[in-house]
Amino acid sequence: MNVVIAEDLLKRSAAEWQASPFTFTGADGKDPEAMGQAVKQTGARALVLGTNRYPDAFYESLERGTLIQRYGVGYDSIPLDLCRRLGHVVGYTPGALDGAVAEHTLALMLAMTRHVCTGDQKVRSGAWGLEAGVDLEGLELGLLGWGPIARRVAVMAHHGFGMKVKVYRRTPPSDAPVPVTWVADLKTLVGESDVISLHLKSVPELRRVVNAELFASFRKGSRFVNTARGALVDEGALHDALASGHLAGAAIDVFEKEPYVPVDGKDLRLLPTVVLAPHAGSNTRGANRAMAHACLRNLGALRDGRFGDLVLVPEMR
Ligand code: GLV
Repeated sequence: MNVVIAEDLLKRSAAEWQASPFTFTGADGKDPEAMGQAVKQTGARALVLGTNRYPDAFYESLERGTLIQRYGVGYDSIPLDLCRRLGHVVGYTPGALDGAVAEHTLALMLAMTRHVCTGDQKVRSGAWGLEAGVDLEGLELGLLGWGPIARRVAVMAHHGFGMKVKVYRRTPPSDAPVPVTWVADLKTLVGESDVISLHLKSVPELRRVVNAELFASFRKGSRFVNTARGALVDEGALHDALASGHLAGAAIDVFEKEPYVPVDGKDLRLLPTVVLAPHAGSNTRGANRAMAHACLRNLGALRDGRFGDLVLVPEMR
């Protein structure tokens, strides 16, 4: 069975694809024309996609019943209604990357509080000395979202660093893997946290939920981490909150436009208190292996007509 895959993902899990019974054809995932061309040439009924967005015409050009397989867990880039209308199915890989993204969240948090990137630049340029860091131990960590990644972050932050975990939840669940304070009001949570980490699912209703009004409620001198999705944050407002000194720092892995493009000339790259990463949370060897295996299980189910075994996004079940 032929499968078209975004080139970067072809490389990320090359060994898994090669060992599989499927024929993978890579194309530039940023280029809908190239992807469409590859589908046409191979007659593929399955695509493995990253987080790139494609115009409606791309999905319309696919044969009815095509498997749109996300290599990852977020599927905000896929037009679900359109896919449903066209008879396509949308798969994803839940659970494959939770630990990797949680570790990246902690890595960024530490890079931000211990000025790791500034220190690296200093030593390389022959300079020495660094501003004092901030201990994570004892800090209050406010989590926006309580999915599997947020839970892993809570465990690592509590057991690994002695942080006090608070979670925004309207209705607190009865179980939590570590002691958690539940906060029913978003502004209260951000006003009472030293580090705020974002782990919400990106849906249209939550677009720019972290905006100027919410940043104004953040505790003065607090820090912000985003390893979820850029669309959840007003990047211009984030820039202003950092530039004014209201926020002491930010660590950002995901952006509204990727690769990052500054909005209205407010360039996060020019702020010394920001640590930036190129949407790399899930890019570990272990997570890549797990995501590839999850994709292969779905491709096998499609090939064998075991449609009930397909792991589809919740909206398509
Ligand atoms: C990564 O961002 C993913 O959604 O899998």
